[in-house]
Amino acid sequence: MGKVGVAVAAAGAAAACVAAAVVVGRRVRRRRKWGKVLGVLREVEEGCETSVGRLKQVVDAMAVEMHAGLASEGGSKLRMLLTFVDNLPSGSEKGTYYALHLGGTYFRMLRVKPEGQRSLALARDVERQLIPQHLMTSTTEDLFDFIASSLKEFVEREENGSAFPLDRRRELGFTFSYPVKQTSVSSGILIKWTKGFAIEDMVGKDVVDCLQQALTRKGLSMRVSALVDFPSLVNDTVGTLALGHYHDADTVAAVIIGTGTNACYVERMDAIIKCQGILTSSGGMVVNMEWGNFWSSHLPRTSYDIDLDANSPNPNEQGFEKMISGMYLGDIVRRVLLRMSQESDILGPVSPKLLTPFILRTPLVASMHEDDSPDLAKVAKILGDTLEIPDVPLKVRKLVVNVCDVVTRRAARLAAAGIVGILKKIGRDGSGGITSGRSRSDVRIKRTAVAIEGGLYTNYAMFREYLNEAMVEILGEDAAEQVILEVMEDGSGIGASLLAASHASHGPDAAQML
Ligand code: BGC
Repeated sequence: MGKVGVAVAAAGAAAACVAAAVVVGRRVRRRRKWGKVLGVLREVEEGCETSVGRLKQVVDAMAVEMHAGLASEGGSKLRMLLTFVDNLPSGSEKGTYYALHLGGTYFRMLRVKPEGQRSLALARDVERQLIPQHLMTSTTEDLFDFIASSLKEFVEREENGSAFPLDRRRELGFTFSYPVKQTSVSSGILIKWTKGFAIEDMVGKDVVDCLQQALTRKGLSMRVSALVDFPSLVNDTVGTLALGHYHDADTVAAVIIGTGTNACYVERMDAIIKCQGILTSSGGMVVNMEWGNFWSSHLPRTSYDIDLDANSPNPNEQGFEKMISGMYLGDIVRRVLLRMSQESDILGPVSPKLLTPFILRTPLVASMHEDDSPDLAKVAKILGDTLEIPDVPLKVRKLVVNVCDVVTRRAARLAAAGIVGILKKIGRDGSGGITSGRSRSDVRIKRTAVAIEGGLYTNYAMFREYLNEAMVEILGEDAAEQVILEVMEDGSGIGASLLAASHASHGPDAAQML
């Protein structure tokens, strides 16, 4: 080989080396970035850890806080609100009753016709509308005028357009899914808003008065509070408990897992120390826990939760709800994806959509999580359409599914711990109760039903599976077999109308709760 040949060969080898070095360098950089992203995932997994041991600590904390909230006003972040509902429907209610339900996302109107026998197919008409976004931050009058007009149209349609005489009264249950301090079954003051509502002039006002005034403005003669013992105002948990009890007399608690989350249960009056002196015919009362505001140092909290809370309209409030409910899960996932995108370019340049709070709603998280197509086509579509991140490789789509899984699993397992906390408080978890000091395996647990409502639980199969799995892990198989979680579709509204029916037809001596 001449000199020229040697030089060409050397140059070729050098170029090949450079090319190889570039490829290797790229590969190393890619691996490093991927490593960073996996590091973020690992950190989230660790932060969201919910071992059985930790869940049992949450169970205990929930039971302890329940005691504290019942002992004194402000004794705990759990408000443990009195509902003045001391009897639940028995199944023998008859007539036609209406209900309104102002939830977190929907406003529902119902007409229910119980026929005197506990029947599975309870005749009902239900109409549901999305709550217009602007009304959530408008004025009391705007919100309640919307409710009253919708109700007026509903009643007129339901009654075939016949003009209803002014003297004709209709019994109405009003389900109001926000924390209310009740002074009777037919009155209550709004304590604060949750789930994105912010109508400041309403806080501190009587919810039933606001409704009554709007109904009068719209010329409707529905009675909301004419009878003292009329159970017109209920939290959605209480409505769900009422429907649960109508179908199954072993129902002792109800849980909502939807846009927000909360639970109520039947408590003995003598255990509600903060309200000594109130007597009820059944010896018990339904307590609205407002568990969304529960807090314990045992809750697995990540930097994403801290940021979400700090940027929310209600910082330091609703901590449990912010880890569990449908309003927030999507945004936790978005925050993790944003961090991954900022740490590396696996999702391309940071999409402005990833910086937009609440753009990734929880139903989309459910669709991605449950995408069973081999190429995760739904994940790709949601990333493309909603977050404007196109052409995401399969490996990265899998990573996104992982993030959905971690966030949802933690939420479901914490909700399970909350439920067992209630069972523990009322001695139905098989451990012998909170005051016994030690667990006893010989304590048999009575058949116990818990009514559940809310889109997150009913529409998200993986959430349900994780919740049920955690119930068994915490309670053990034998005890878990005695605990039945029963879905109550539209329970919040139907239950409110049944409570109206129950009190209207039987007076205070309706069903036994305890
Ligand atoms: C409210 C509760 C309600 C729950 C479920 C929470 O944000 O504070 O009153 O029961 O959402 O709708």
